Amino acid sequence: MRYPRWRLLLFICAACLTCYWLYLGVTAALGPDPGKVLVDNLGQGALILLLCSLAMTPLQKLTGWAGWISFRRQLGLWAFAYGVLHLACYMYFLLGLDFSGFAAELADRPYIALGAIAMTGLLALAATSTRWSMRKLGKRWKKLHRLVYPTLIVALLHMLWVVRSDAGQWALFASIAAGLLFARLPAIQHCLVKYGSQVRNFVISKKTSNNR
Ligand code: HEM
Repeated sequence: MRYPRWRLLLFICAACLTCYWLYLGVTAALGPDPGKVLVDNLGQGALILLLCSLAMTPLQKLTGWAGWISFRRQLGLWAFAYGVLHLACYMYFLLGLDFSGFAAELADRPYIALGAIAMTGLLALAATSTRWSMRKLGKRWKKLHRLVYPTLIVALLHMLWVVRSDAGQWALFASIAAGLLFARLPAIQHCLVKYGSQVRNFVISKKTSNNR
C-alpha cells in the first residue's frame, strides 16, 4: 500500500468530521432542527468528497505525482459512506424510520428519487472498487466506473431541487464539477500533462542554475 501516512491522515479527517457532526447533533449544538442540519451537512460532504475523488486524475496529470491516484479510491469510498449516513439520518430524523413513508416519498418527490439514483450509482462504484472486481471486470471496469459522471450530475440535480431558491452554493459545486468534467477531455488531459511538465522543467532548470 502506497503513501500509508497520507491515507491514514485522510481517513482520520473524514472519520473525525462525521463523528464531530454526530456529536454536535447528540449534544443539541446544531440548532433547533439538528436532524435537518445533519442531513444537509452529510449530503454536502458526500458531494464534496465525490468532487475531490474526481479531481485526483487531473491533479496527477498536472503534477506528475502518482500519489493522487492512491487517494482516489479512498475519497470515492468516503463519498459513499457519507451518502449512506446522509440517507440514514434522513430515514431516522426526517422520516422517523417509517420505511413505507420512504416508498411514498420516492414516488411523490422527484428530488428523493434523484437522490436514490445517485446513491445507487455510488453503491455500484463502491461495490466494484476492489482489486478483485478490477481483475474480474478487466476492460469493462473502466467503462463501468464512467458511471461516476452521471452519478455526479444526478447528485447535483438532487441538490439543486433542494436549494432551488438559494442556488449560490450549488452554482459553485456545479462550476467545479463542470471544470472537472472538462478536464477529462483527452485534449485537455494532454494540455495538463504538457503544461505540468513544462512548469516542472522550468523549476528544475531554475534550481540547478541557482545551485551553480
Ligand atoms: C436515497 C438517497 C437520498 C435521499 C433520500 C436524500 C435525501 C435528501 C433530503 C431529504 C435532503 C434535504 C434535506 C433538507 O430538508 O434540507 C437532501 C439534501 C441534499 N442531498 Fe440528499 N439524499 C439522497 C442521496 C444523496 C446523495 C447520494 C448525495 C450526494 C452524492 C446527496 C447530496 C445532497 C445534497 C448536497 C443536499 C443539499 C444539502 C444542502 O441543503 O445544502 N444526497 N437529500
